[in-house]
Amino acid sequence: MNAIVVRNLTKYFTPSKKEKKKGRARNPSLESRKQGNNSIIRAVDHIDFEVKNGEIFGFLGPNGAGKTTTIRMLTGILKPTNGEILIFGQNFWNNPIKAKQIMGHVPEEANVYMDLTGLENLSFIGELYGISKKERISRAEQLLKKFELFEKRHLKSKKYSKGMKQRLLLCMALMSNPKILFLDEPTSGLDVQSSIIIKKLIKDYNKNGMTIFMTTHDMDVANEMCDRIAIINRGKLIGLDTPENLKKLKQEYQAVDFYFTKEAKESELENLSSVKEVRKIRDYYHIIVHDLNDGICEIIEYIKSKNLKVKKINTYEPHLEEVFLKMVNGGDDY
Ligand SMILES: Nc1ncnc2c1ncn2[C@@H]1O[C@H](COP(=O)(O)OP(=O)(O)OP(=O)(O)O)[C@@H](O)[C@H]1O
Ligand SMILES: [Mg+2]
Repeated sequence: MNAIVVRNLTKYFTPSKKEKKKGRARNPSLESRKQGNNSIIRAVDHIDFEVKNGEIFGFLGPNGAGKTTTIRMLTGILKPTNGEILIFGQNFWNNPIKAKQIMGHVPEEANVYMDLTGLENLSFIGELYGISKKERISRAEQLLKKFELFEKRHLKSKKYSKGMKQRLLLCMALMSNPKILFLDEPTSGLDVQSSIIIKKLIKDYNKNGMTIFMTTHDMDVANEMCDRIAIINRGKLIGLDTPENLKKLKQEYQAVDFYFTKEAKESELENLSSVKEVRKIRDYYHIIVHDLNDGICEIIEYIKSKNLKVKKINTYEPHLEEVFLKMVNGGDDY
């Protein structure tokens, strides 16, 4: 059985009066997603996908793409405008309590209860789930140990670092032993240690059978973690594949950043046969090439011929957002 089936899922928002007055949506990129005179924003626009039982499914896309809106609909926080969601075959809206029992959720902007200690936070959540005191303390302590927070279990959460809070939020989501875990940007902006712990434990839980649905901006996190990745942009699903296949997409964007000691002529660089496009960005040139090797050799020849000197070269690893945006904006480079 699929863990999640999504059909025709759609969410439209109407901007607040304040936003209407300002004449723009919260995100300028949404201007093109407004419909008609009433300025409805199509945050999620007729998407279909399935998540297999036991997989780590990544949901990738740029800011404002519709990732959080989707996850909020999947977890029952937000009612869809249209479409159907089945979680392990259950229609959430007809069966909210049962569905809630099988899912854990770490929202994008969640917070722990600051005046409670780590242990108290978990015990409180356990109480909400109706778990007996003995059992909830035992589960809480196990989780705190796994997430390397045990030594800080009696410290008030307001004294936790951002990474520690995020780990505690994960513990809170895991208190009910969910079958499926929804994570909205689980490692975004975290310290290296917390990020490593979280990634490792997500993988461990997955190995033990838990289905994971996670959003991220970060292609490298997705590559490392996910069995399959769906790409969303402007509310539309524009791709769904394994990381291996998506990496091919990434490799097609080949570019190199050159820092020169003095100005080069963009038009001359652009005339080189291996160069597709040149963008001058602050003190460097972002040069998109047909082939990295040919491009670098030809640019170096050009540099020598013009007596330019190179301060630094970076071969460019594109942010997936750029690749997505270029795809969606109809660039034929991809
Ligand atoms: N409650 C709301 N009211 C009005 N518009 C909203 C609301 N929530 C989201 N939106 C709009 O829908 C768009 C999609 O938002 P969403 O939060 O799903 O994007 P996201 O992919 O999670 O972006 P990010 O990477 O920045 O977290 C947003 O850009 C926002 O303008
Ligand atoms: Mg988001």
